[in-house]
Amino acid sequence: MARNGVGVGVGVRRPTSPPLFLVVAVDVVVLLVFLFHGVGAQKVRVEEELEAYPNESVDLRCQFVDGGGKTKLTQVSWIWEPTEGQRDNIAVYHPFYGQSFPNPSFKERVVFLHNNLENPSIRISDLRMSDAGRFTCEYATYPTGNEQGTTTLVMLAKPKNSAEVLTVRAGTEAAVVARCQAAHGKPAASIRWLASVGGDHGNRGNHSTSRSEASDGTVTVRSEYRLVPTPADHGRELTCVVDQRTQDKTWTRPLTLSVEYPPSVSIEGYDHNWYVGRSDAALVCTAQGNPQPTAVSWSAASGPLPDSVLVDGNKLTVSKVDDAVNTTFVCQVENKHGAAKDQITTLVIEKERRVAPGPSTGALIGAILGALAVVGVVAALVVFIRRRDADGPPKHKPPPPVKMDGSTQLLDKTSETPGAAAATEMAPIRPAGDVYYEPTGRQPVANWAGPSRGAPNGGGPPSPDQPLSPRPPSPPTANIARGESFVSPAMYV
Ligand SMILES: *[C@@H]1O[C@H](CO)[C@@H](O)[C@H](O)[C@H]1NC(C)=O
Ligand SMILES: *[C@@H]1O[C@H](CO)[C@@H](O)[C@H](O)[C@H]1NC(C)=O
Repeated sequence: MARNGVGVGVGVRRPTSPPLFLVVAVDVVVLLVFLFHGVGAQKVRVEEELEAYPNESVDLRCQFVDGGGKTKLTQVSWIWEPTEGQRDNIAVYHPFYGQSFPNPSFKERVVFLHNNLENPSIRISDLRMSDAGRFTCEYATYPTGNEQGTTTLVMLAKPKNSAEVLTVRAGTEAAVVARCQAAHGKPAASIRWLASVGGDHGNRGNHSTSRSEASDGTVTVRSEYRLVPTPADHGRELTCVVDQRTQDKTWTRPLTLSVEYPPSVSIEGYDHNWYVGRSDAALVCTAQGNPQPTAVSWSAASGPLPDSVLVDGNKLTVSKVDDAVNTTFVCQVENKHGAAKDQITTLVIEKERRVAPGPSTGALIGAILGALAVVGVVAALVVFIRRRDADGPPKHKPPPPVKMDGSTQLLDKTSETPGAAAATEMAPIRPAGDVYYEPTGRQPVANWAGPSRGAPNGGGPPSPDQPLSPRPPSPPTANIARGESFVSPAMYV
């Protein structure tokens, strides 16, 4: 406030110039309280604490303040106290005998800034971490004896940060998958991890941090990230975050985990239709592993590969299907963590198997649909009649409205107690007892769209004379669904 007052009064704004000289004539005491956090009564003014980095220089300021001017100053010394109890005189000034720098480790690095007993400030250059400690400016005076003030010099050090990924093998034991280090920092850095590892199962990782202090007072912090590695962790991201006071901003290093695992393999491409004479039959051996398996080897269970077989890497092609490939093919892959194999029996058939349903199949489907429709209508009638009988005297409803047709009544009831009504009333028309309606309270209507999709393209039931389709026959639900979709409109009409 005093400085502000002076600044405004004089009308000068010189933030860069040392306020000492600007204000000294106005109010020395107030200024010194600002600059030197000494105790009021003390005559030796110094700064309480200073921070500096290695290789830089620092000015240790000291000033003798003698209000009356009656004290005689004999000599001033700077005493360095790196640790409790160890005191080394590093700089001495005597008005007659001059300057002296008794400590060899400071001798070349210390100078007095003014050749002046009242202002014995020094500059230490080429700072070292080990210079940290207490620096006392000590006067020998008469008649009051020694007077002193102490500045603590805090040496700071930017840590050298690094992070690395460790390639691990997938397994059941926790392993260190990444390391992060903040070396030789002062004060000690703090390390955190940001992990996407774990996905839905939360953060499975675990880290442990250790620190070690060097003789110069710097601290190296190391953190290890542990995980029970799974193949799915390969390629996941993990970030090491280092915070430390001397860093302008947080240091982050994203890492990509590296998890290796033995291969898994599957043979694909067999379509159950290897008929004699076919020329484009092929199998593909698909392997997964880290490292990616390189060597793929094909063999036949019965012995050497038939002559008609051509192998190109993971693909096996049969130039012309005949009896010789009526066998079992084996594909084996390897990486450094293991081997895996898969095998497939290729059954050679005499005649090409046709997948699309023939005209006779279409007719059959039509017949079945027709039958189902009839059954559905009958069932709906039965339900309708039964319910009319049962409803006779109204139990949970005001007297029934004017006689309505069945469909409207059905709708009313369904909406009134959806679950129960749907369950009991639909039960009789449920063909073959299949699970199609559950008492969930849904309107049966809602189910039309879905299952009817299976109808047009061969969703019909397998017939004895129809060759087996390559895929397992569609589940019966499709047919039933279609049955329902025929029934329901009937009820609503
Ligand atoms: C981290 O590892 C320690 C020791 O293995 C264990 O006690 C602790 O529960 C683990 N924490 C997490 C979050 O996995
Ligand atoms: C292939 O082998 C099976 C028995 O393993 C046999 O039933 C079938 O007739 C054979 N096919 C040919 C074309 O020989």
